[in-house]
Amino acid sequence: MIRAVITGTGSALPARRVSNAQLAETVDTSDEWIVERTGIRFRHIADEHETTATLGADAARAALAAAGAAARDIDLIVLATATPDQTFPSSATKIQALLGIDDCVAFDVAAVCSGFLYALQVADSMIRAGAVRRALVIGSETFSRILDWEDRATCVLFGDGAGAIVLEARESDAAADAQGVLAVRLHADGRHNQLLYVDGGPSTTGTVGKLRMKGREVFRHAVVNLAAVLTETMAAAGLAPDAIDWLVPHQANARILDATAKKLGLSPEKVVVTVDRHANTSAASVPLALDTAVRDGRIKHGDLIVLEAMGGGFTWGAAVVRF
Ligand code: UT7
Repeated sequence: MIRAVITGTGSALPARRVSNAQLAETVDTSDEWIVERTGIRFRHIADEHETTATLGADAARAALAAAGAAARDIDLIVLATATPDQTFPSSATKIQALLGIDDCVAFDVAAVCSGFLYALQVADSMIRAGAVRRALVIGSETFSRILDWEDRATCVLFGDGAGAIVLEARESDAAADAQGVLAVRLHADGRHNQLLYVDGGPSTTGTVGKLRMKGREVFRHAVVNLAAVLTETMAAAGLAPDAIDWLVPHQANARILDATAKKLGLSPEKVVVTVDRHANTSAASVPLALDTAVRDGRIKHGDLIVLEAMGGGFTWGAAVVRF
């Protein structure tokens, strides 16, 4: 059988890093409140030359180098983003042009913070169906452009950044210890649109809009949904939760990560936490955390990793991958 194997990871952050104390100079907040309630210490903010496409292209270049692959070998780019450079064309095609790829399949996926999981399943399915052999799956966001900088309940939580993986077709056996994507499960429940949304758009206001969130309610749903989808996806892969080497979750709030790990009986040492360094980067946060843990040597070949995320929609999902 064909499986999709992660052969390289990469990430990119804007040059400008902003601390909680710096934010407190212009917003009615404090380092103590942000650290205690979220675990966030820094976020990176794009300058006018840095966009979702340029950050995504930088992350993709790093992932290609790690995979030892050339841009011309890529035949699919799936970009997860809620903050495209323009309404259209897709930022995936902008990344394609920046990478100098003349012809490949390229499109964006919109599932907000769960976008990378959605993009991963699309790429995994196309690879296993034999439609493409080598894909770039990217999460890239510039949420700083859709934040209301006068709303302290949201503007302190988000940051900009990008993460990417190279996913390649490999012949594999059906065993659960085989390398590659072993199972993905996705969900959406549009009844909760109004708990986390942007109050603008091309077909409504004709403007870009600003992010709005009922944080406490999102928090409550996040812990329940993330624990449930993780259990469901491990079962789909035919594995028990204690087989997990590393949980690589969406980085929204350190308290959500703690609560989810506790609910699953998972040791906190097995959870990759990077929210302190780059805050919530929406669709970029899972591949950013993955790349961090691969490059610092925590995640090694053969490890069983679980990626999971939950965000606006609501959307949520998980993927079990033998790295
Ligand atoms: O990526 C998509 C998924 N998103 C998430 O997962 C976010 C989920 N939600 C959360 O992470 C948390 O709910 C927040 C971090 C957003 C908020 O934490 P909380 O413990 O739920 O606080 P809260 O919203 O209940 O607010 C508590 C207090 C309020 O004051 P009062 O009404 O108790 O006097 C807020 O006005 O904290 C106040 N507050 C702040 N204080 C200082 C809210 N934001 C701030 C701030 N600085 N930045």
